[in-house]
Amino acid sequence: MAKKQRIDKILSNIGCGSRAEIKKYCKHGSIVVNGKTVTNPGLQVDPEGDEILFNGEKIKYREFIYIMMNKPDGYLSATFDKKDPIVLDLIDPSYLVFEPFPVGRLDKDTEGLLVLTNDGQLSHRVLSPKKHVPKTYYAKIDGVVTDEDVEAFSKGVTLDDGYETMPSQLTILKSGAESEIELTIHEGKFHQVKRMFESVGKKVVYLKRLSMGKLKLDESLALGEYRELTEEEIKLIEEK
Ligand code: URA
Repeated sequence: MAKKQRIDKILSNIGCGSRAEIKKYCKHGSIVVNGKTVTNPGLQVDPEGDEILFNGEKIKYREFIYIMMNKPDGYLSATFDKKDPIVLDLIDPSYLVFEPFPVGRLDKDTEGLLVLTNDGQLSHRVLSPKKHVPKTYYAKIDGVVTDEDVEAFSKGVTLDDGYETMPSQLTILKSGAESEIELTIHEGKFHQVKRMFESVGKKVVYLKRLSMGKLKLDESLALGEYRELTEEEIKLIEEK
């Protein structure tokens, strides 16, 4: 059984309208709990145990939402910006009522897997530097990526600010004037992948996140598309 809450709060939290609008719905008899029409918007209700009908439809209450997005280039992974488009601009208002935020940041020009949720505790755990949740990226590099780079990354490299990275796993997919790689890192410093390649004298020209923990980007999502995660997938985010 969930904690009891006011019916107007429950319904406004899931996007049925503002508290003032819910009050009007009560007057019109649009809200029914356990077979009884609700007239008092302050009625205390168990959002999981009680049956709540809104305009004749049974509501599915939930506290948290978890979304996977294939983030496109050109969007900030922020919840507000005065100038640039943000990833929330791509999300339907019916999800925005839950106030989701991105779990960690991708650069404006980075594409790929971005998880958005309103579950602060999950986000905290995933981003905790102590947890070392792995993140795998695909990148195109201007320059020839060599076995020496693989070796250097496996030991850890020194970034421009003197930070020594943890060991990471670099796989060369194609080595040439423009190389293609996959890199798994276990931390999340600012611009980490780009700065790691700078430390070996190379430039990332395209970056895409493929996975976080054991959660993989659903490649059927086009850039800018998103979908909710399944129960199973939510667990995968924290798995190593
Ligand atoms: N590393 C980067 O340099 N940029 C990102 O967006 C993510 C990881």
